[in-house]
Amino acid sequence: MNAPDMLVPEVVEPLLTGTFGRTYFYQDACESTQKLLDAGLNEGDAAVCDVQTAGRGRLGRSWETPPGTAILCSVLLKPPAGRALAELSLVAGLAAAETVERALGLAVQLKWPNDVMVNRRKVAGVIAEASGGGVVVGIGVNVNQTREELPDDAKVAPGSLYTADGVRRERAPLLADLLSSLEHDYGLWVEGGLDALYDSLGARDFLRGRRVFLDGQAGTGIGIDRSGRLEVEIDGQRQLVESGEVLFER
Ligand code: BTN
Repeated sequence: MNAPDMLVPEVVEPLLTGTFGRTYFYQDACESTQKLLDAGLNEGDAAVCDVQTAGRGRLGRSWETPPGTAILCSVLLKPPAGRALAELSLVAGLAAAETVERALGLAVQLKWPNDVMVNRRKVAGVIAEASGGGVVVGIGVNVNQTREELPDDAKVAPGSLYTADGVRRERAPLLADLLSSLEHDYGLWVEGGLDALYDSLGARDFLRGRRVFLDGQAGTGIGIDRSGRLEVEIDGQRQLVESGEVLFER
């Protein structure tokens, strides 16, 4: 890496190729980028910071990253009325997976509903939170953390792009790619629903065929269905999981 690895507007805005992120709120430090956006803003407006003091993960967990190592980004979406929030977090998970895939040139998978997995480690996560008439989608990508800088108490073993291939990356081009990827996949979803992304999701389905644990019961992951639910088989019975977390055998 030659240039200072910064996500300030002067560095990121020239790299944007679409409309997402054209309104770009940046702070060096904030509690959570999720708190910097609200439904009064426009679709595609983005908030980014270098370090969060109260980063939010799914299921009430925290999301902690050392300053200057990760992408911490929230984007305001205003989906058509009646569309499922749960589907949106799959859309954002897929967009993040595709960005990581392009950066690494390695196979990247999506652990339902939206953990981005490389070599069985989670390198990115997504949270989607309703806000007035909109949805604030937050994406965290572990870019340059070393193994020691990653949390050691996570439910799913964490990794970063750096721990995957030993390359330190500038975050700004990755962030620009992520915003473009999200805009593209979200556009497909708005037009065609989850069906438009079904093959891309299926091709990256981490839990398919794996031994999984749901509420302490062991089973097998069958796959993501056309409504975005996870199908699992436990004791010969198929079950559809709408939300929550499914663990897997390492
Ligand atoms: C998860 O996997 O639990 C979701 C993690 C989401 C983290 C991102 S970082 C940017 C945005 N701001 C937050 O406080 N959380 C999301």
